[in-house]
Amino acid sequence: MQRASEGALDVAGPAAAARETWASRLGFVMAAAGSAVGLGNIWRFPWLAGENGGGLFLLAYLLMVGTLGISVLLAEIVIGRAAQKDPVGAFRLLGGGAWRLVGYLGITSAFLILSFYGVVAGWTLAFAVKQATGLFETAAPSQVFADLLAATYEPLAWAFAFLAMTAAVVSGGIQNGIERANLVLMPLLFLLLVLLAVRAVTLPHGLEGLAFFFAPDVTHLTTATIAAALGQAFFSLSIGLGAMITYGSYLQRRQPVGRAAFQIAALDTLAALLAGSIVFPAVYFAGLDPASGPGLAFVTLPTVFAEMPAGRLFGVVFFVLLAIAALTSAISLLEPVVAFLVDEYGFRRRRATLLTAVGAFLVGVPSSLSLGPMPELAAFGMSFLDLVDFLTASLMLPAGGLAMALFVGWKIAPLAAAELAGEAPHRQPLVRAWILFLRFVAPAAIGWILVAGLIR
Ligand code: PHE
Repeated sequence: MQRASEGALDVAGPAAAARETWASRLGFVMAAAGSAVGLGNIWRFPWLAGENGGGLFLLAYLLMVGTLGISVLLAEIVIGRAAQKDPVGAFRLLGGGAWRLVGYLGITSAFLILSFYGVVAGWTLAFAVKQATGLFETAAPSQVFADLLAATYEPLAWAFAFLAMTAAVVSGGIQNGIERANLVLMPLLFLLLVLLAVRAVTLPHGLEGLAFFFAPDVTHLTTATIAAALGQAFFSLSIGLGAMITYGSYLQRRQPVGRAAFQIAALDTLAALLAGSIVFPAVYFAGLDPASGPGLAFVTLPTVFAEMPAGRLFGVVFFVLLAIAALTSAISLLEPVVAFLVDEYGFRRRRATLLTAVGAFLVGVPSSLSLGPMPELAAFGMSFLDLVDFLTASLMLPAGGLAMALFVGWKIAPLAAAELAGEAPHRQPLVRAWILFLRFVAPAAIGWILVAGLIR
């Protein structure tokens, strides 16, 4: 990022002139895609797809991304670019009144997600090291995973290390380094995913796994599946909490965003499709249950590496890349909270970062313990980690997205339409359809899914 060279911005006022901005449109797309692509694609998506009937979940998920997801993603970016502020500041500036509560909801979601995201990202670091030491050549991945979780301090130490790295990047301001590193590492991650998918599909029983992933089984058509698919779409696209508002706020106002939203969603979806094409063939190859819960990716991926030439090396490289993908996502969870503390309460950036990261670690402790030594940390048939995950992804993010749809559709529709009219004068009908969708369809659909998902 570099300092904005533009003068006063009409909505945000002169103070906004000093904000950092992305160096280029590509820089924004890559950073936003870096936020979107992460554990959500490779850890969370296969876990939920496995529990919700594979192909049917995939279908519901694709539908959610293509309709509600992309519309809310664009809404967030437009809000951020127009306001040039953190989520709370953006809603206060553009909406006033109680609208800023939407910002508070988002900040809370970001903080809570970061707490368990750090725990799972810690597992990827641990697995990178375990791959390097060749542990998987002697022990079954499911046993390695169970042992890691059963050890009280080991997963906590990894979570701490991961959050410390996240804090180090965020406290320096969103560095040029991250923007540039993304440009190299993201394509590398995709390349590796393609390689692994090819290997997984060609394993014995691999095609059965692929069939499970792609063939919709209508017996799973329940409101719970649809609600889970909506939550996953929001989680994976990093929307509903203001991360994309924050990233959009670092755009210069003349940088176009319409196409960027599609590109971000496409990259994110591709990563999920590849992850499923690796995990489910591996599940069938290894004779595992697709509905094995949040450890699914971790107990299947090492199985694929073991079947590859130079598998140990592949395993290390993969988990390191996954940790980096998680890092770029975690940055976008920490950044809105920090931007909020800095912009709204005048915190110094370093202090805000330290405070938030330590807080997220502490709240993450029960999540980590709930899967290992303290199974009593559970409620409603879910572990503490599952519970925080469900509360945020399936309830808070959709609620935030619902509010954002109402906000753009009703409160700032003329401004939002004008924002997009400038960059694509020939797409007016599409812009109008988007506003109408946000005004009527999105709130009704999300509202129905939220209610139906709750009373199931
Ligand atoms: N989208 C990220 C992932 O899939 C997680 C995330 C959610 C990041 C919400 C920011 C905001 O891993």
